[in-house]
Amino acid sequence: VIQVFENIRQCLTLQGAEANQGRHPTEEDLGVIEDAAVVVEDEVVRWVGSKRDLPIEYSQEKRVSAGGRVWLPSLVECHTHLVFAGSRAGDFAKRCRGMSYQEVAKAGGGILSTVAHTREATKETLLRNAQIGLSAFESRGVGCLELKSGYGLTLESELKLLEVVQELQKYTKTDLLPTFMPAHAVPPEFLGKSSNYVDAICSEWIPEVARRKLAVFFDVFVEEGYFSVKQARQLCAKALESGFKLKLHADQFSSLAGAQLGVELGAVSCDHLENISEQGIEKMARSSTVAVLAPGASLFTSTAYAPARRLIDEGAIVALSTDFNPGTCPSHSLPLMMTIACAQLKLTIPEVLVATTLNAARALGREKSWGCIAPGRAFSVWQVAVQSYEEIPYSFGEAV
Ligand code: NIG
Ligand code: FE
Repeated sequence: VIQVFENIRQCLTLQGAEANQGRHPTEEDLGVIEDAAVVVEDEVVRWVGSKRDLPIEYSQEKRVSAGGRVWLPSLVECHTHLVFAGSRAGDFAKRCRGMSYQEVAKAGGGILSTVAHTREATKETLLRNAQIGLSAFESRGVGCLELKSGYGLTLESELKLLEVVQELQKYTKTDLLPTFMPAHAVPPEFLGKSSNYVDAICSEWIPEVARRKLAVFFDVFVEEGYFSVKQARQLCAKALESGFKLKLHADQFSSLAGAQLGVELGAVSCDHLENISEQGIEKMARSSTVAVLAPGASLFTSTAYAPARRLIDEGAIVALSTDFNPGTCPSHSLPLMMTIACAQLKLTIPEVLVATTLNAARALGREKSWGCIAPGRAFSVWQVAVQSYEEIPYSFGEAV
């Protein structure tokens, strides 16, 4: 079936951003077409352009009105910790009283408190929680989403989380990409014996998850009190050898040179980077490792923002994410991250739009499938009821 969509107030194709590999995004890169038409055949885009240029061959096909909305590629959420149980409202309350993220973790909150609840939870409960979270993302424009394990931290419970992702995929058209993240924290069984934990992950866990093909990516929290650069090297070497692509939580609270490590290992992305060094910025800028920034986590934990301006100006490929998780950013809204990035990181509107579509797709190795409206690509768009695309970040997370 062929459908001709018309009455599209603006269509952002992002074709220019694609040509420039998502570096230094400009207004031109958005490829804005006013009063556009899009021809779709069997879920694939055949033609996109100004309505008055619609090729004559399509003039008799079925017309569908977009109701004057603005179209852009479906958003891509490239970093979430969506599968877990329990609430961390108590952690937030403590931070409101002045404690830091690390202090709250030491006082019995933090990742390990979510781990305790998640281990207890059944697959059904986890699936139900994840479905609610996923639809919250979908209703805010997302068509492709990454999900990490990391709240189980035993082989059995990590497998349970990855199986929930597999199950979740059966109920949605959204493209789900699972990440195996056993090195999210040292679990209580291995307290004070983190090197034994790392050994167990390498010798048993990674081979098992690889064998069952339950994840595409492998991620490590490279951070003081979590995993050192040396441990991350050991883990990543094993993961690469077992066929995983790499992502890293790097330079979030302390500056351990996680970004340099990620570039050296050819990671698809280094995420967070609030405390990236000058040398780290240079390395990121000269690589195709995507810098995934999570300004919602900085806002919510009252910590520093990443040097987003420097990264983009130096030429790095920058993506934006909610980092959705119960501890540092319980927000399902990429549009809200756009607003924060504009107002606090001083990104331009074209920069945040590229960062949540094409560059986020790059952070998942999916830039050929997501983040651009062009002939030959699968049809998946976010249709927004605004007068102009600039109203999307302007709407303070409420554009729908
Ligand atoms: O991305 N940094 C590590 N992981 C999460 C926080 C997880 C949690 O606090 O539960 C993050 O911010
Ligand atoms: Fe994270």
